Amino acid sequence: MKSFLFTIMQLTSEKKRTMSTSVFSCFATLLVFGFSSLASAKTHHLHWEVSYMFASPDCQEKLVMAINGQFPGPTIHAKAGDTVVVELKNSLPTEGVVIHWHGIKQIGTPWADGTALISQCPIKPDETFVYKFQADKAGTYFYHGHYGMQRAAGLYGLLIVDVKEGEKEKFKYDGEINMLLSDWYHQDIYTQMVGLSSNPFRWIGEPQSLLINGVGQFNCSLATNQGINKCNMENVQCSPMVFKVMPNKTYRLRIISTTSLSSLNLAIGNHKMTIVEADGNYVDPFTVDDMDIYSGDSYSALITTDQHVSSNHWISVGVRGRQPKTPPALAILSYLNNSQSQLELPMATPPTTPLWNNYTHSKSFSYKILAAKGTPKPSKKADRLIQLLNTQNRIDGFIKWSLNNVSMVLPSTPYLGSLRYSLKGAFDQKKPRDRFGANYNVMKPPINPNTTTGSNLYEIKLNSTVDIILQNANALAENVSEIHPWHLHGHDFWVLGYGEGLFRKKDVSRFNFENAPLRNTAVIFRYGWTAIRFIADNPGVWAFHCHIEPHLHMGMGVVLAEGIDLVKEIPKDAISCGKTANMLMNQHG
Ligand code: C2O
Ligand code: CU
Repeated sequence: MKSFLFTIMQLTSEKKRTMSTSVFSCFATLLVFGFSSLASAKTHHLHWEVSYMFASPDCQEKLVMAINGQFPGPTIHAKAGDTVVVELKNSLPTEGVVIHWHGIKQIGTPWADGTALISQCPIKPDETFVYKFQADKAGTYFYHGHYGMQRAAGLYGLLIVDVKEGEKEKFKYDGEINMLLSDWYHQDIYTQMVGLSSNPFRWIGEPQSLLINGVGQFNCSLATNQGINKCNMENVQCSPMVFKVMPNKTYRLRIISTTSLSSLNLAIGNHKMTIVEADGNYVDPFTVDDMDIYSGDSYSALITTDQHVSSNHWISVGVRGRQPKTPPALAILSYLNNSQSQLELPMATPPTTPLWNNYTHSKSFSYKILAAKGTPKPSKKADRLIQLLNTQNRIDGFIKWSLNNVSMVLPSTPYLGSLRYSLKGAFDQKKPRDRFGANYNVMKPPINPNTTTGSNLYEIKLNSTVDIILQNANALAENVSEIHPWHLHGHDFWVLGYGEGLFRKKDVSRFNFENAPLRNTAVIFRYGWTAIRFIADNPGVWAFHCHIEPHLHMGMGVVLAEGIDLVKEIPKDAISCGKTANMLMNQHG
């Protein structure tokens, strides 16, 4: 007879407006006859349907891309080692769709990465594609559309992976609160996409609102009485998100940003946050009053509910790095048993997030993120160094983003299929460059007439160690350099260091080999560089790109391929388009 711990359940009910957070999973020790272990991995089988629906995320009715009629999409809860199966039906009227599982490495299943025309064909309307992958590691993740700008249309949701049955997190907490942050435009994504690829260029501008778990308030400040009326809070769709907590407990906040454009900062009135996890990796805990979150980032922060029970507290989310034209998003941390109809607003004014252009503040937050003890360390040397110059360019009059003078365009046949089956002519064969001109002036607008669009890709030797220096520069306008959060598919990487100006060989001496954090997303600051290192140990084709949706649309990404000959047979549904479709037909014919 063996005894084991049995998690009864976490009483989290995720209602749309009021989030009651669970106080504690209860544990009960049960006796079981005959079984020696229950730690077997589970399979989560989900049936999802993507469709457009009418919704009012910020009080203005718009079309949103929903899953099973929900926006944001359903939260997936799995345990490390579990298998997730999502049968995804495309019920969009006239366009293809894919879903990417951001932070999941897709080891052995590169065709399930959900990148249109990189890892698979877009799923056609009325067709179904089955994503089957392993939740390889505990952590805070999310999923989102990865075709055109579908993420910005609202196609996203959370993917939470808990530690294996019987295993413990490195930190203790009593309950969880999830905050999925996004920004919201009233203009539909088609108008945005056409504008971005038009000459003259039409920029999408700043978002109309910021959303927390899909809820925001357009054109109003909840913080003033006048604002409340203007916000029409009786309309249940317009009232702020309320996160209920019990006093004197520790909560794990899982904070994720899937914004289209905005870099964010989050602060909670009278509560400090201790950051313990970033992108599914433990970090050396550090405590802050407010935290930055870039698109593609995910964090866990612990808060202690040690304030007096007689008051509620504001949670503010503000914009970083761009002159904010978007009002902050506000939510309420509620110690009280308010019902939504008689919601008590906090007495204090909402905490102000730092000034949008306080870059010193942002840098100091990023520099504090270091690996927890026990995190694997990077080797001392890399096999290859790729320096990627991030520039904004004009190509035939159109404004694009480029890496080493190539602005990414995707081929009509997914790379994974054309590489695996050695199909000729499916994408540009010219090798992209590992370097850019050594004397490039990053402080000035680009003078590179040779910039082109291209679908070429970086071939990476399997199991090699690769350094990438992301080099920021001046954009087309004088004195403008923007923040870009870069996200790598299929891997975690070490963030070896950050620096100002042009990266020089000698900067290698500043790399952090001691406690470089493992991440899947890293930011480059204006006019600066960020150095990352990863091991190319995951056969497949992987996107590496700026997570700002309009930037990606304007070509701000590269594609990496490694160990293609070790990729197993690709499910036919993943490659039934372009040249691979012809190949499959000939096989059958
Ligand atoms: Cu979350 Cu390729 O992105
Ligand atoms: Cu960018």
